[in-house]
Amino acid sequence: MKVLVIGSGGREHALVWKLSHSPSVTEIYAAPGNPGIAELATCINSTDYFAIAREHNIDLTVVGPEAPLVAGIVDRFRADGLLIVGPTAECAQLEGSKLYSKRFMQKLGIPTAAFATASSHEEAVTVLDTFEYPLVLKTDGLAAGKGVVIAQDRKEADAALAQLPMPMVIEEFLQGEEVSFIVLSDGKTAVPFEPSQDHKRVFDGDQGPNTGGMGAYSDSNLLTPEQRTLIMNTIIDPVIHATGFTGFLYAGLMMTPQGPKVLEFNVRMGDPETQPILTRLNSDFALALKAAATASLHPSQLTWDPAPAACVVLASDGYPGDYPTGLPIQGIETVENATVFQAGTKLDSAGTLLTAGGRVLGVTASGATLAAALDTAYQAVKKINFQGMHYRKDIGYRGLRRYNMGEMGA
Ligand code: AMP
Ligand code: GLY
Repeated sequence: MKVLVIGSGGREHALVWKLSHSPSVTEIYAAPGNPGIAELATCINSTDYFAIAREHNIDLTVVGPEAPLVAGIVDRFRADGLLIVGPTAECAQLEGSKLYSKRFMQKLGIPTAAFATASSHEEAVTVLDTFEYPLVLKTDGLAAGKGVVIAQDRKEADAALAQLPMPMVIEEFLQGEEVSFIVLSDGKTAVPFEPSQDHKRVFDGDQGPNTGGMGAYSDSNLLTPEQRTLIMNTIIDPVIHATGFTGFLYAGLMMTPQGPKVLEFNVRMGDPETQPILTRLNSDFALALKAAATASLHPSQLTWDPAPAACVVLASDGYPGDYPTGLPIQGIETVENATVFQAGTKLDSAGTLLTAGGRVLGVTASGATLAAALDTAYQAVKKINFQGMHYRKDIGYRGLRRYNMGEMGA
């Protein structure tokens, strides 16, 4: 198979890396890719993905980020008989529009936070009074993680209203632990990936502003078998059966005392969750993806290494705010026992690897225990440096606490 991967981040580097281990893959293309991806694939700097797929006789295309999905890439490829992994533009609205997604969940009875919608500031102000604080304000469209505000009181809600574009969703604040539950679906059958947990805030102890994700781990102990079954029965399968959803469906869940509830749906894999998840995948990823694109997926096509895996994101100074780029990155070649996935990187004309984004690298390792995986990842982090590099020192802390308390399940 000749495979094309669309995107340029750490998630896409992990996708390409895993595909490079598939016996069924002969050649990998990426658009646009990044310098880490270029070590494993032919990178093409064009957004005319359809032309790339045609010109290079691509057998299967895999889409990393949400934007091309929301724009209808899957519909376009399918209309011409090209195999692609992802949802239609209509299904991609589950991520593309929070209003659509909340109304969809309401209609299907999928557990989620109680909510109201507002199309103007006046309406939002009246709606506010029907909720208790803290409450959550979410702008409707794609906002790269910047469209959600948790307001502790009326003053914070007013400040958020002044800044967030309309229309919006106003919803109840849910308590609990977050889990990223991602499945691969062929339209009828959804097969779960092992569960993972992201760390969205920039600083240790979940302090500071939200980011795209500062690190993640995947550990089977995150969810009990009963919790997994409940999530499949009450959340995932209803979506698949109602829509024929194909591709990756990512349920961002809050494990509340009343059971799992959906914070958001994404229609793609998570970044950085993909890095530790795919580190644990034993089976031929390309065959599973092809099966997802041809309505022939079987649960036996995703098998897992029980060993947990963890990813620590190395970010640029200032991220998630403004940050410098073009700074030399040292030490990647000295890393042992861990995989360094590249995200915001570029090469200069002399071939020196430079920073080129907010999240620069994702250092990923597995281990017999979560503690061992984290230890190996952090040992590797110590070998890497660029000016202003920062990272969280507490990735996986909830998982470690769970081990210490002898618990299973979030
Ligand atoms: P979203 O983009 O909807 O996933 O929101 C981003 C982050 O805001 C989530 O990962 C949660 O940490 C937080 N969040 C969103 N909605 C809620 C909610 N209803 N209750 C508590 N936290 C929330
Ligand atoms: N890491 C969160 C996301 O991919 O949306």
